[in-house]
Amino acid sequence: MKLLSRKATCNSHGQDSSYFLGWQEYEKNPYDEVTNPTGIIQMGLAENQLSFDLLESWLANNPDAASFKRDGESIFRELALFQDYHGLSAFKNALVEFMAEIRGNKVSFDPKKLVLTAGATSANETLMFCLAEPGEAFLLPTPYYPGFDRDLKWRTGVEIVPIQCTSSNDFQITESALEEAYQQAQKLNLKVKGVLVTNPSNPLGTTMSRHELNLLVNFITVKGIHLISDEIYSGTVFNSPGFVSIMEVLMDRNSKNTEVWNRIHIVYSLSKDLGLPGFRVGAIYSNDDTVVAAATKMSSFGLVSSQTQYLLSAMLSDKKFTKNYISENQKRLEQRHEMLIKGLKNAGIGCLMSNAGLFCWVDMRHLLSSNTFEAEMELWKKIVYNVGLNISPGSSCHCTEPGWFRVCFANMSEDTLNLAMQRIKSFVNSMNNNNNDQSNDKSNKNSRRGLLTKWVFQLSFDGREADER
Ligand SMILES: Cc1ncc(COP(=O)(O)O)c(C=O)c1O
Repeated sequence: MKLLSRKATCNSHGQDSSYFLGWQEYEKNPYDEVTNPTGIIQMGLAENQLSFDLLESWLANNPDAASFKRDGESIFRELALFQDYHGLSAFKNALVEFMAEIRGNKVSFDPKKLVLTAGATSANETLMFCLAEPGEAFLLPTPYYPGFDRDLKWRTGVEIVPIQCTSSNDFQITESALEEAYQQAQKLNLKVKGVLVTNPSNPLGTTMSRHELNLLVNFITVKGIHLISDEIYSGTVFNSPGFVSIMEVLMDRNSKNTEVWNRIHIVYSLSKDLGLPGFRVGAIYSNDDTVVAAATKMSSFGLVSSQTQYLLSAMLSDKKFTKNYISENQKRLEQRHEMLIKGLKNAGIGCLMSNAGLFCWVDMRHLLSSNTFEAEMELWKKIVYNVGLNISPGSSCHCTEPGWFRVCFANMSEDTLNLAMQRIKSFVNSMNNNNNDQSNDKSNKNSRRGLLTKWVFQLSFDGREADER
């Protein structure tokens, strides 16, 4: 007799995607400078660890905030009992001001339209519950964040239909790609309820242009559907062109209080900009009162704890701190981005030009043995098992072209990033030598094995040999 639900036993959680499998391999053999110097370096995790010192020094200078005190008096009991799912108004006020600051104060946000959620994961799922029925669809530009297969589909029963973007125009959204995705959904008998974009993009690390944003607003206006703009990386933009929020585009178009105004929803979180994914702080911002009311009720399933709200309301209300944090964090991201680009270039590898995020979209098409996703997986396995770098293959992001990989740069020290770059360079050199050797002496079957051992790290994977994988 079947005792478990279909939901519990289906695999649409996405756990078996190579995105998550790479993390599992990393967990088995994590790099550590001292205890495991040949282990796998985690470059598949979009974490921002570059500015912890700024947060820590703020905490040291403001001990009341983390020790449940207000003006030196304990507020432990007040926080312990707080359970209003509307959230602490001091925190909501501070959060909307922080969101405006990140957008250069070109737009403002009304705290009454903000719903607090346990991270952007919960915000995106809650919006699906509010905007679509099971079996209805959202259109998403590819490549997209692999977690969306879980967040948008798994519990809600909503479907994702890809908007196919390609390297021919640097993966930008076009009118024809939008229309094709819409037609494709209709062919599949799926009713389209909206488009979801991430701006800045995960995994591309690029910001969307005004042209693309206007295209999207035009499209959803004509089709009478919703637009969700996941702006979780809005504070990570470190280079021009600057970040343009969908809110700014709406204001420029004088869309306030028009019909489309109510159909545009923003998702935000402090997981990336402040580097606090463990705190689980996210938000939905919507102009639709019914969505705000429903999402607020649903937020009971994923609230932000009161002590976290209290601590962060104190931190984000400190304008001197937030101003310095935003600009310093962006500078550090830019430096790291530069290091990664240079290191890869040194190994003959290029990247999509990017200006935001915690990762680069890396072009390794020339390292594939053939232009197929099988070859992409073959290369990915070599990079994980033999080179010792966990990166995310483009196929896990539903990229339509084999050979692209997402490589993260903000979750490790400079030394570790340098080591990762040395490893990749040795790998590419060995591949090139190998290719030369093979064309010089095709009969020497052992040359590949011999050359591989020059760069292969002695890893602990089940004792298998490097070139068997
Ligand atoms: C585009 C995007 N949305 C949502 C999330 C989930 O973020 P959170 O930790 O706030 O749930 C991520 C995390 O990587 C992301 O990249």
